[in-house]
Amino acid sequence: MVTGTLIYEGKAKKLFTTGHPDEVLQYFKDDATAFNAQKRGTILDKGIINNKVSERLFRLLEENGVPTHFVERKSDREMLTKKVTIVPVEVVVRNVIAGSLAKRLGLKEGEAIQPPIVEWYYKNDALGDPLIADEHVRLLKLATPEQMAEIKGLALKVNSVLQPFFAERRMVLVDFKLEFGVHNGRLILADEISPDTCRFWDQATRESMDKDRFRKDLGKIEEAYQEVLKRVCG
Ligand code: TMP
Repeated sequence: MVTGTLIYEGKAKKLFTTGHPDEVLQYFKDDATAFNAQKRGTILDKGIINNKVSERLFRLLEENGVPTHFVERKSDREMLTKKVTIVPVEVVVRNVIAGSLAKRLGLKEGEAIQPPIVEWYYKNDALGDPLIADEHVRLLKLATPEQMAEIKGLALKVNSVLQPFFAERRMVLVDFKLEFGVHNGRLILADEISPDTCRFWDQATRESMDKDRFRKDLGKIEEAYQEVLKRVCG
């Protein structure tokens, strides 16, 4: 059980101190929000599923040379991680047209994007996490040009590892969001990689197996999360 003090409570996770100054405990909640928290709900056992799916994917990425904040999964809902200073940029990688990209540019969902697109969003709830250009990252001093180049390279590397992993599990990795942090002066992958932060479509039916079921009220949300857990960790 959690014994540290609460450092931060976000929409889907809480962060606690540990006995180690260099490490932080992530606690995964069942709370779900969408549209900058205008829509709220809970997804039964989501915290457990996101913790386990994130563990599997962080381990896979580490094995493939991507540095991550993952240290150890402590329990169903707790993950021990390296303490980082988060880069306040949400990094989105897209393989298929969907979501805000389709809406913003008037494109039809479902067409493949080749090569994949990497986008930056300013991590700022008050502004609703707006899409920004490289120049805005520089203007706001969110990351240095060197860090941006490294983040882009790492994001594409993550994609090249995860895409075949999900394909083998009969899933299309449509798009996903990553967050990076600095630990001991080094950029590492942080946060989580889960059905909350990715779009997965079943390869055969093209049905959503992720948080879009909650965002769009598609039903069978818990079933979809359980199916992702089964295919990823099963
Ligand atoms: P978008 O199409 O709504 O911009 O979402 C792109 C990807 O980012 C999708 O896989 C869901 C993920 N995402 C988050 O993880 N957090 C967010 O707040 C949003 C809006 C999207």
